[in-house]
Amino acid sequence: MIIKGGNVLKIALIGSNGQLGTDIMEYFADKGEEMIGLTQDDIDVCFMDKCEPILLELKPDLIISTAAFHQVDLCEDEGELAFSVNAVGVKNLCNICITLDIPLMHFSTDFVFGADKDRKKPYNEDDCPGPISLYGISKLAGEYIIKYMLKKYYLIRSCGLYGLAGSFGKGSNFVDMMMKLAKEGKKISVVNDQVLTPTSTRDVTEKLYELIQTGRYGLYHMTNTGQCSWYDFAVEIFKLAGITADISPTKSSEYVAKAMRPFYSVLDNKNLRQAGIKDFRHWKEALKDYLDSKYNK
Ligand SMILES: NC(=O)c1ccc[n+]([C@@H]2O[C@H](COP(=O)([O-])OP(=O)(O)OC[C@H]3O[C@@H](n4cnc5c(N)ncnc54)[C@H](OP(=O)(O)O)[C@@H]3O)[C@@H](O)[C@H]2O)c1
Repeated sequence: MIIKGGNVLKIALIGSNGQLGTDIMEYFADKGEEMIGLTQDDIDVCFMDKCEPILLELKPDLIISTAAFHQVDLCEDEGELAFSVNAVGVKNLCNICITLDIPLMHFSTDFVFGADKDRKKPYNEDDCPGPISLYGISKLAGEYIIKYMLKKYYLIRSCGLYGLAGSFGKGSNFVDMMMKLAKEGKKISVVNDQVLTPTSTRDVTEKLYELIQTGRYGLYHMTNTGQCSWYDFAVEIFKLAGITADISPTKSSEYVAKAMRPFYSVLDNKNLRQAGIKDFRHWKEALKDYLDSKYNK
């Protein structure tokens, strides 16, 4: 358990080792909040007896949880674990928030969409979800549980996250994986028929902080602006990093993966704008900063 910061808001952050969690931990502590970072060594959201005692003792003002089982292909084989972390775990945290009478901030995904295959228009928070993978279904179950159980929640859907710490759940993130493959001189093929918005965890963190200051609970999409295919994303990484890579586009139908993924999962941050918060910067700008701070030092 890590404890940092001042004494404004006491926040218990579950998933503090993850890529989003690491940024939240640092940024919120810099803002003077009292941050209590919890990893799986401290807490397991799947089991009430492994999360309730510690959280009741800490008595935070807010619980933020980035905990998730989000290896999309593995979720197809390990559905029980997916539902255990992404749905039962959320229910456990909701019960604790009710006992403490505090809000929960929880993260969901663009993968709650995808069923309308011909979609070409960004999804806002009023659009009806339609997941096409067990991962997406389990995350949507978590969303429904929060909406059903809590009045005070910040439910954040994001997309294509990358952050300096790298994703713990996936072992890496897309940017770092592309950089590694290019440096090893590997032939790289990336799908160009799945469109998303790559999103910086650092940028999400700044907006989360702004959102908390408004006290406006609800469902929010939070992504950088613009959109691209995974292939375009990779090409931009190599362009900005100034490296040559042996890359070619491919189609989802030629790429063997256990889980289906949305062809289009761009999110419109409508509710954030309505809360008076400015749109995120363009994904290319955020990517440049990420590459500069991680690789072009
Ligand atoms: N990565 C993406 O592209 C993406 C896109 C859209 C939405 N999201 C969502 O955004 C959130 C954060 O993603 P991320 O990329 O920061 O993930 P991450 O780096 O894998 O971090 C997730 C954290 O969850 C913790 N965790 C996993 N199972 C747990 C359990 N049973 N009990 C307690 N903690 C547990 C892990 O803790 P330990 O490190 O201690 O094991 C890990 O640090 C997730 O909810 C994810 O679904 C991610």
